This record gives sequence, structure tokens and C-alpha cells, in this order.
Amino acid sequence: MKSITVFGAGYVGLVTACAFADSGNPVEVVEKDLNKLQKLQNGEMPFFESGLIDLLRRHIRTGNLSFTNRPVKKGVDFIFICVGTPSLEDGSTDLSAVWAVADEIVSFDYPDDTFVVLKSTCPPGTTNRLKEFFIEKGKNYSVAFNPEFLKQGNALEDALRPERIVIGVEDVRASEALQNLFRPFVKNGNPILTMSTITAELVKYVANCYLALRISFINEVANICERLGANVEDLRKAVGLDSRIGVKYFYPGCGYGGSCFPKDVASLINFSRKSGYEFKLAVTCNEVNAYQRIVIAKKVLNYYNQQVEGKKFAVWGLAFKQGTDDVRESVAYYSLKELSKMGASFRAFDPEAMEKFKASFPDLADHVEFCSNQYQALEGTNALLIFTDWNIFKDPDLIRLKEALADKLIFDGRNILDPVVLKAHGLRYVGIGINNLGLL
Ligand SMILES: NC(=O)c1ccc[n+]([C@@H]2O[C@H](COP(=O)([O-])OP(=O)(O)OC[C@H]3O[C@@H](n4cnc5c(N)ncnc54)[C@H](O)[C@@H]3O)[C@@H](O)[C@H]2O)c1
Repeated sequence: MKSITVFGAGYVGLVTACAFADSGNPVEVVEKDLNKLQKLQNGEMPFFESGLIDLLRRHIRTGNLSFTNRPVKKGVDFIFICVGTPSLEDGSTDLSAVWAVADEIVSFDYPDDTFVVLKSTCPPGTTNRLKEFFIEKGKNYSVAFNPEFLKQGNALEDALRPERIVIGVEDVRASEALQNLFRPFVKNGNPILTMSTITAELVKYVANCYLALRISFINEVANICERLGANVEDLRKAVGLDSRIGVKYFYPGCGYGGSCFPKDVASLINFSRKSGYEFKLAVTCNEVNAYQRIVIAKKVLNYYNQQVEGKKFAVWGLAFKQGTDDVRESVAYYSLKELSKMGASFRAFDPEAMEKFKASFPDLADHVEFCSNQYQALEGTNALLIFTDWNIFKDPDLIRLKEALADKLIFDGRNILDPVVLKAHGLRYVGIGINNLGLL
């Protein structure tokens, strides 16, 4: 049992805190957002992540989890920094929240034998700078970097049974302490990999950029399939079954979003440039995604000959992916923005993300009505636009769809519906890299 303080109760901090609490460690969570803090203290989730609420409530009851807006416990073994590190305009990373925590750690005067672990995704060199900052302030903490690989929508499973744990350290004491702390999570034999802090920091960017590239690659393939009349769904299976390539994370769609891929690709480009290297594939990945995230808007505009003034569209899915209420860099936003500029309006439904979408994108307030279920969203609309692959959208009532949609038309940004079945029900279908009705 080790005593732990986690700074930041966002997707990463809260999942980390719940996972450590569940393996028997008392965890104090420091959160600065007072609304979020109050919810957590009352055992309520400030965001949606499947299964997390049960652990949250259980460990408030067991006493392993406590929430505060200033640190209270001084004699803790580990401090985890899990605050946000968003992008700045030029693609560099805003580390102000990390430095604010560093200041608080110094002013709270944690003892010198406390381990400080940076979990926020930060450009290579940040952990070393943090160590230097503490030394300047007369503190001799061991400072480590521990990248987080959780996937929103599956975060709890990823935290409790990670495929690998990476520890970036510069001293043996921290390496041993962290390996001991993480051992309960790798009883299944998955590895704990230790390396330098700079390498561990880079691991996170390389992993995310590679995944973003894989998505962008198959999106490029989908776009060329449309022009040649090929079917990307048949193609991706045939290509992915080569074990060197693999079928996972190889699905075409209307681009990637979320709080990580866009900002981490931008940061990789930025810190590579600063070190004198142009990371060309990352630059291209960014460009490909900027095109792809408005591909639904382009197809709609082409179908209606650029005339969507007065047209109304049903929208299924606002979250950047299924399983989360996170709308950061939601691709739905980018397409709706393009279409709203041309006079279109929307009736939208998402099972979890409507409140966040409304709060995050007030510029769309006059164009979007939010509906209480997916069928209500269809009422009085011309066509349906699908942006998120929630299960609830995968097997819809096609009779209701046909009755409600004036133009009997579906634009499926995630290729979750079957064009053959839709056709049999008198519905026309536009997917990504398949059945594009001649629309590019
Ligand atoms: N979300 C993911 O799927 C994911 C996955 C892997 C890594 N990451 C990385 O983890 C980090 C956190 O991401 P997130 O999605 O959890 O962010 P988030 O924005 O959801 O949460 C950050 C939290 O930190 C709080 N905070 C800010 N300053 C604080 C301070 N001084 N003291 C205490 N709390 C403070 C904020 O109020 C917020 O609740 C980022 O660097 C991100 O890139 C995120």
C-alpha cells in the first residue's frame, strides 16, 4: 500500500486515481475546477466513462479516494501530475497547468523523498526541466515520466490491465519504486518497460502519431477508392489480413478528433522543427485529417449542388468517438460549421455528448436543435448525417428512417450501416470509400 496524490481529475487523472484506489492505495485527488470537485465529492461523475462511477463510489466508501482543491496530505509516497496540456496556436504545447502544479508542490513543501511522476503528455525534455526546477527551489524529488495509453470509452480496462507500462526514469530508486507500484496491474505478464525520460516522453507522441497516420492512410485509400469505383471495406479486410499490417485501427471514416491525436501530432511537428527536423509524415497527417474531417460536409454540398439554404439535417453522434462524452476536436463540429455557413440547420442526437457539445460550440447555437432520441432527430429533416459509431446507431429502424427523411438519404461518416440493406428499404446511402453516388 502506498499513499498517492493525483493532480487533475480529468479523464486521465480520475481513471488513474480510481485504478490506484482499487488496488488498495489511499489516493488524494487535487482538482481546481470547483464544479467538477463538488460533483466528485458527492460521488457524481463530471464526465462519462463507462464503469468508472462504480469504482468512484466504491472507493469514496472505502475511504481510499478523497477529493480536494488544495493538497492536504503531506506524507505521500507518489505525486502524479495529470493536468491538461492543450495545443497553442503554433502547435506547441501549453504547459502552464504543469508548472502551476510544480509551484504548488514546492509551496506545499512535500518531503524530499516523495516521487513526482508526470503523466500528462509533454514534449521531450519537460521531465528533465521539471527536475531542474525543483532543484532550483531546493527540492531533491525523484522525477519520472509515465505516459498514459488509455483509450476513452475503454479507459478503465486499459488502466486496470494495460498492454504495457512505460516508465521514464533517471534514477534506480524511482525505477524500483514505480515498478513495485505498478506490479498489481501486470499480473497477466504484460511488461513494464523502463527507459530514459526523454525516450518515454517521445513514446507517447510516436504511438499517437502512428495511430493517426494509420487512420489517415486508410482515409486516403477510401478517397481514391471513391474516384476509382473500388470498395474500401472489401479492400481494408484484404489488406489488413496480412499480419504485418493488421485489421485493427484501420477503419476509414470522416477523420479523427479528440483531445489527443490532433494536439499530439501538432506538438510532434512543433518540437521536431525546434530541434531542426521537419517531421514530414506528421505534417501530411495533419493536412489529410483537415481535409477528411469536413468530408461529410463536402459530400452533402455536392449532392445538393452547394444549395443547402433552408435544408435541415438529422445528426447522429457528436462525441469524437463512441463511449465518451468528449467533444474536443469533434469532427461533427467541423462539418456542421461548414454546412451552417451555407444556411443549413440540424436536429442532433448523441447518447452522452449533447450537453458538452452545446457548451463547447456556442457558435452553432442558432443552427442545432438537440433531441431526446435518435428518431426524434429525424423529424422534418432532408437527410441523416452520422458522425459517431455508437452501437445504438448500428441497427436502426429502417422503416422509420425512410418515413422521416424527405430525401431518403443517409451520409454515413463511419461506414456503420450496410448499403445493400438500406437500398432494399428504399434508402440511398453515401459512405466513406463506398457507394458514393458519384459524390466526392
Ligand atoms: N484523454 C485521454 O484519452 C488521454 C490519454 C492519454 C494521455 N492524455 C494526456 O493526459 C493529460 C490530461 O488529459 P485529460 O484528457 O485527462 O485532461 P482533462 O482536461 O480532462 O483534465 C485535466 C484536469 O486537470 C485539472 N487541473 C488543471 N490545472 C490544475 C491544477 N493546477 N491542479 C489540479 N488540477 C488541475 C482540470 O481542471 C481538469 O479537470 C493531457 O496531457 C493529455 O494529453 C489524455
